Amino acid sequence: MADCREWATPGGRTGDLRGEAKGAPGMGRWTEQVRCPISSLIVTNMAETGSITGSIVVLVSGCGTNLQALIDATADPAYGVRIAAVGADRDDIEGLNRARRAGIPTFVCRVADFTTRADWDAALASQVAAYRPQLVVLAGFMKLTGEAFLRQFGGRSVNTHPALSPSFPGVHGPKEALDYGVKVTGCTLFVVDAGVDTGPIVAQSAVSVHADDTVETLHERIKTVERQMLVDYVGRMVRDGFSVTERKVTIS
Ligand code: GRF
Repeated sequence: MADCREWATPGGRTGDLRGEAKGAPGMGRWTEQVRCPISSLIVTNMAETGSITGSIVVLVSGCGTNLQALIDATADPAYGVRIAAVGADRDDIEGLNRARRAGIPTFVCRVADFTTRADWDAALASQVAAYRPQLVVLAGFMKLTGEAFLRQFGGRSVNTHPALSPSFPGVHGPKEALDYGVKVTGCTLFVVDAGVDTGPIVAQSAVSVHADDTVETLHERIKTVERQMLVDYVGRMVRDGFSVTERKVTIS
């Protein structure tokens, strides 16, 4: 399991997310521009987006157990979802291996291969767009997506977070919940916006904190619930469509 939690080590998402969220020039203006369409209209009309109905792209950075849950669910045609591709921001991760074993196309888009973060973000958006997904699922993807990505996929991207938002955003959700002494924590599925785990909430599931929990045992218990939640709600969002009004997400 140590390898599978590699993504959560210092130097991972914390720096990327917090630095970018606070430091990007013009961020306030960008946030406003991006958030307006997200909160006022979520595009579920496939004719408008040119998306392929039922198709999703999953983005990962690590072990990919959430991805695996989706792969397993898609084996049943009644689930109504097809994983068109799996993308990652790094090589040599189990998430990519899981996709390859399942015969799913993969791509890697590494920040280090681009001159600027904005260039990386635009390339990521373009690589995802090539598969024309109805929905983009960030499942343990440890990068904050930017303006280009949100312009194209804002309102039809979801992310999963191992805490009950708005508590404990960022990469250390289980540890911060444990340190704080909460008795109940959990996981949150949300529509991606420009913030760190701040988007409109699709679903949440609660998990009890045990007296003898470590960060690892707590996170594993959360992930068991998180995988089920992800499968349930991604299926419903794809099959039934959804809308977002202000912060309220409604599945049709
Ligand atoms: C999950 O707990 C997710 O909420 C967090 O990263 C973890 C990914 O786990 N963002 P896995 O790679 O799907 O096993």
